[in-house]
Amino acid sequence: MARFPPFSLSTPCLWGLIGSAAARLVSTGMSVTLQDIDYFISPYASGNVTVPSAWLSHVPSVNGFAPVTVVQEDTTELSTLSPLFSTWSTKDDVFTDAFLDAVFVRGQRQSSIGNVTSFRQGQTSVVLPLESSAVPSGPYFIEQTTGKLYPVYRLYSDFAGAFNQPLLQKPDGTFQTLSAQIAGVASATIGVPSRLYYTPTEDKPLAGVRVGIKDIYSLAGVRQSNGNRAWYHLYGENNVTGTAVSRIIEAGGIIVGLQKPSQFANGETATADWVDFHAPFNPRGDGYQDPSSSSSGAGASIASYDWLDLALGSDTGGSIRGPAEVQGVFGSRPSHGLVALDHVMSLSPVLDTAGFLTRDPYLWDTANQALYRTNYSSFRGKSVRYPSTLYTLSFPTTNDSASDAMLLAFQQQLASFLNTTATPVNLTADWTSHPPAAAPSDVTLPTLLNLTYPMLISKQQISLVRDPFYADYAAKHDGRLPFVDPVPISRWNWSSAYPDSALDEAITNKTIFMEWMTEHYLGPADHPDQCSSSLMVYVGSAGPETARNVYRSLPGAPLGWSSSRISNMAEVPDFVLPVGEVEVYSSITNHLEKFPVTVDVLAAKGCDGLIVRLAQDLLEAGIIARPLTGGTMAGGEVLL
Ligand SMILES: *[C@@H]1O[C@H](CO)[C@@H](O)[C@H](O)[C@H]1NC(C)=O
Ligand SMILES: *[C@@H]1O[C@H](CO)[C@@H](O)[C@H](O)[C@H]1NC(C)=O
Ligand SMILES: *[C@@H]1O[C@H](CO)[C@@H](O)[C@H](O)[C@H]1NC(C)=O
Ligand SMILES: *[C@@H]1O[C@H](CO)[C@@H](O)[C@H](O)[C@H]1NC(C)=O
Ligand SMILES: *[C@@H]1O[C@H](CO)[C@@H](O)[C@H](O)[C@H]1NC(C)=O
Ligand SMILES: *[C@@H]1O[C@H](CO)[C@@H](O)[C@H](O)[C@H]1NC(C)=O
Ligand SMILES: *[C@@H]1O[C@H](CO)[C@@H](O)[C@H](O)[C@H]1NC(C)=O
Ligand SMILES: *[C@@H]1O[C@H](CO)[C@@H](O)[C@H](O)[C@H]1NC(C)=O
Ligand SMILES: *[C@@H]1O[C@H](CO)[C@@H](O)[C@H](O)[C@H]1NC(C)=O
Ligand SMILES: *[C@@H]1O[C@H](CO)[C@@H](O)[C@H](O)[C@H]1NC(C)=O
Repeated sequence: MARFPPFSLSTPCLWGLIGSAAARLVSTGMSVTLQDIDYFISPYASGNVTVPSAWLSHVPSVNGFAPVTVVQEDTTELSTLSPLFSTWSTKDDVFTDAFLDAVFVRGQRQSSIGNVTSFRQGQTSVVLPLESSAVPSGPYFIEQTTGKLYPVYRLYSDFAGAFNQPLLQKPDGTFQTLSAQIAGVASATIGVPSRLYYTPTEDKPLAGVRVGIKDIYSLAGVRQSNGNRAWYHLYGENNVTGTAVSRIIEAGGIIVGLQKPSQFANGETATADWVDFHAPFNPRGDGYQDPSSSSSGAGASIASYDWLDLALGSDTGGSIRGPAEVQGVFGSRPSHGLVALDHVMSLSPVLDTAGFLTRDPYLWDTANQALYRTNYSSFRGKSVRYPSTLYTLSFPTTNDSASDAMLLAFQQQLASFLNTTATPVNLTADWTSHPPAAAPSDVTLPTLLNLTYPMLISKQQISLVRDPFYADYAAKHDGRLPFVDPVPISRWNWSSAYPDSALDEAITNKTIFMEWMTEHYLGPADHPDQCSSSLMVYVGSAGPETARNVYRSLPGAPLGWSSSRISNMAEVPDFVLPVGEVEVYSSITNHLEKFPVTVDVLAAKGCDGLIVRLAQDLLEAGIIARPLTGGTMAGGEVLL
């Protein structure tokens, strides 16, 4: 796809430039519109065909590139093609009738070749022979001079501001920036390849699944930012794709971009905290709810774009769960330690986890198997014996508000589905009446764990991330400090008042709690079909949580105790399930708007697959619904 540089008469030594053998001219692809749809033509050909140029003379082309279709399906009768193309149009957002002017069909009888057939109302197509079985079915752009077939990507505007780098996954699995820009304000342009190129198999269960990656994971070929501008500019392109993302790619996933994290994966709110980058937009309700953090781009994108299937986030203290809750999608903090986190920026290795956000609980299961491999036991198609103990934490007990009524109804339906009744528990009170021997008897649970989380994340991130970053930056910039957003800097600063031994103390406190939790509430079950001794649920979100235009208190250490800390400390899975939405007055739109209601479900460590199976079963039972993209969980326009 190499082309000559633009010819310029004002260039004085033009011939000298052309003569320079050192000049490397490389195509980064090309953008076109076809029937008013924006497309990107990949610079990496999938294969080639031999075709006399006269046969393509009626096909429109730009710079020698013409839209065509490849059909590998076993097609003896051309009459079967029309229904095939209709099916393609419904399952793929890239293919349209506009690619049907020329159709390369494998295994055609010689007599049909060149015949002009009508696959579409009022338009003709030429049928051409296809020798290669290597080029997958789907739409392509053919370079007429070489016969090379280039894959087509549809371009979408990232109107939610969820991405910070659009990516093109190269055939060798490394990455380059996707060089395309369509209309949109302060929005990246994301390209997604035709779904028709990919067929999931046992080896490649995620074939063609489009995935966004939180910009704290290293991808070979491109830089990362960790949500920090200085970091992005200080370091070169990454040379390695770490274990977690490599597994997604090996399973066939297509990485379409890096997504905005809040800075260094610390919790930030949209007003004031996001100094280096602008916080993504939560599409639900009035469109001005905080997207939560730190997997902010992940949550905003999964709730906004039906052209995106999965987002890989990370959860140290709620960074997957928060965005999933406020945007009403599935999201999982897995059991701790299911996949190695090499080549991922750390917040706290004793707490960090990698997990997905998605709208589809079946894809969730497949993706978890690809990411965690033997550390994840899928319950799909297997017999399951749900625990008969269902604990609830701080669930509403009245129908006083719409969200209370919805949560109460969900709790009743869940209990009845499990053939049990819910047991409300108060962990704080229970700790006081049954304290573990390892903890001082006069210490309450909120006191034991008050400083644990902020101590772990700050002490560990200081040594693993901040110190080497500061040193590298100082070496390059004459001893200067890099800019860091207020939240991470205030947390790092907070912990400097504590001795290094406070880190060991935090790990001890975490361990005491984990053992107590396993013994009393979330332990392994005797029967493998049950996995967990119990299930525990708490309220994830109950309507509007935080508007993004509200100034809050000054940043500081995330002290304190809440239900969301259980999984952090006890290393158990904590998965967000969307339950429904409630209509609430928005002072931003002066109108009633719908906001997500979600719950979090916990099980024993290693029982991640059990919760995904529960999500699937609750979906089949009609107790929850599949969330859609848009202004509400049932779909609809995003308010812009
Ligand atoms: C076409 O493909 C064949 C095999 O796939 C290859 O040998 C040949 O070089 C290709 N031709 C061009 C022009 O790229
Ligand atoms: C086109 O199809 C007709 C039958 O419908 C056949 O008689 C004819 O030979 C074909 N022409 C070419 C060029 O393949
Ligand atoms: C990748 O390798 C190149 C060449 O060795 C080096 O210049 C670059 O800094 C490396 N990137 C990172 C992020 O370490
Ligand atoms: C499973 O988890 C263990 C413990 O964290 C880890 O050492 C191992 O590499 C993991 N296995 C896989 C297949 O990722
Ligand atoms: C809440 O409303 C449901 C449905 O009307 C009813 O079955 C239930 O008893 C009510 N619960 C309370 C606590 O009022
Ligand atoms: C609940 O009980 C019914 C009737 O015995 C049974 O069919 C169903 O499988 C049970 N459900 C679960 C989740 O155990
Ligand atoms: C749990 O119990 C403690 C006292 O041990 C009490 O302060 C707290 O309010 C209780 N929480 C709830 C949600 O009832
Ligand atoms: C948590 O720590 C803060 C700051 O040291 C303190 O003000 C607060 O009282 C502590 N809370 C508990 C429950 O110990
Ligand atoms: C650990 O627990 C003790 C109480 O046993 C508490 O005083 C201390 O603040 C805790 N420290 C951390 C870092 O969690
Ligand atoms: C750092 O912490 C000290 C107290 O330990 C406080 O006085 C100072 O304002 C903090 N600085 C920042 C930037 O948060």
